[in-house]
Amino acid sequence: MTEDTNLQNDVFSILVDKTIASLIHQRLIEENLLDYRFKIKDIGKQVAIPIVNLEYLKQLDWFDDDSFITKIVKLEMKNSNQIPAEKIVSQISEFFIQKSTPISEEMLDNLPKKWEMFNDLAIIPNDSVNSLEWRRVLANDESLTKKIWEIIAECINVSRIARQAEIAVDKIRSSQVKMIKGNSGEVEFVDNGVKFWLDVTKVMFSSGNVTERHRIGEINMDGEIVIDAFAGIGYYTLPMLVRSNAKHVYACEMNPNSIMALRHGAELNQVLDRLTIVEGDNQETLQSLTGIADRLHLGILPSSQSTWKLAINCLKSTGGIIHIHMNVKESEIEDFSDQCIAELNKYAVNQCGFENVSLQHVEKVKWYAPHIRHIVLDVAIR
Ligand SMILES: C[S@@+](CC[C@H](N)C(=O)[O-])C[C@H]1O[C@@H](n2cnc3c(N)ncnc32)[C@H](O)[C@@H]1O
Repeated sequence: MTEDTNLQNDVFSILVDKTIASLIHQRLIEENLLDYRFKIKDIGKQVAIPIVNLEYLKQLDWFDDDSFITKIVKLEMKNSNQIPAEKIVSQISEFFIQKSTPISEEMLDNLPKKWEMFNDLAIIPNDSVNSLEWRRVLANDESLTKKIWEIIAECINVSRIARQAEIAVDKIRSSQVKMIKGNSGEVEFVDNGVKFWLDVTKVMFSSGNVTERHRIGEINMDGEIVIDAFAGIGYYTLPMLVRSNAKHVYACEMNPNSIMALRHGAELNQVLDRLTIVEGDNQETLQSLTGIADRLHLGILPSSQSTWKLAINCLKSTGGIIHIHMNVKESEIEDFSDQCIAELNKYAVNQCGFENVSLQHVEKVKWYAPHIRHIVLDVAIR
């Protein structure tokens, strides 16, 4: 981090050897002598601790002129405008200085710089506070570990912290998130007027799909019967019920933890009466929903192709709209869209008696990997 010279102030300080810094710091607090407005400064073997009343300090029993130097030192003001990531670095360094324990640049660099927020719970990246050095320092020291997470939580302004891990490569997208501070991973939050509920330690939440969730929620689905083939915790099901005003949504899902979260979310939004949760593998369950839908949502990556034909079978005989999620190379989006329409046309027109398949819109949701886009094709089948 760069030092902002505007924040440097001349401050009366006591210079103490690092080996006794923690003790002196504590005594200064007890005597109300610590100047909390400024940061403690690391100066080689010593630290400069800001003080408020030099005369009073000199009268204390433990103070003697031979052991301690008092002088004016340029100190940085604690900045209330610091962004939380900067606050974490400055408060953790200060904590280690007070403890008279060195902290390396590598450890400071390994502090969290970003996180996902769910109200009072922050999920930090897997590699944060997880370097070999951090693990060595925190090993078998519960009270130090607790203190470090307390400082980080305070800087981020949350009461719970969890650590991200790779999403499991299983079909049901289990979460591997582990709680670090606080026990429960249950969170409730509102996005674009829609309430969601989940246990972050059990299921994953794709916060990267926010724009698509909002776009789908803006579509008017008045009077429509909709099938969400990969409902999860209701990422799209709930916006379609709450914002798009779908008449009824059939939500297919096979993960019991997601189903529990979806039901809870539907209760919170008071839309349970317009929702049917269809439990099980959609390769089977979609077959029981033949001919009923005005719209289908196929929200699975990298490919939803396994459900294309089943989805066409679910449409009413008058047809409807299918939202197809796919991961596609940026340079191949146009070719893919043409092939997809041709494929759907072959089945819908040649085998199911529909008249026409047309591409209404291609939405580029996010970069999934370098050169690979998560896209959604809105396809009309009439
Ligand atoms: C990517 S997640 C949730 C997707 C959500 N639509 C999104 O894009 O954020 C996909 C969900 O589909 C469910 N799923 C995967 N394969 C399924 C299948 N064959 N039948 C039913 N649900 C399935 C998983 O359990 C998971 O909850």
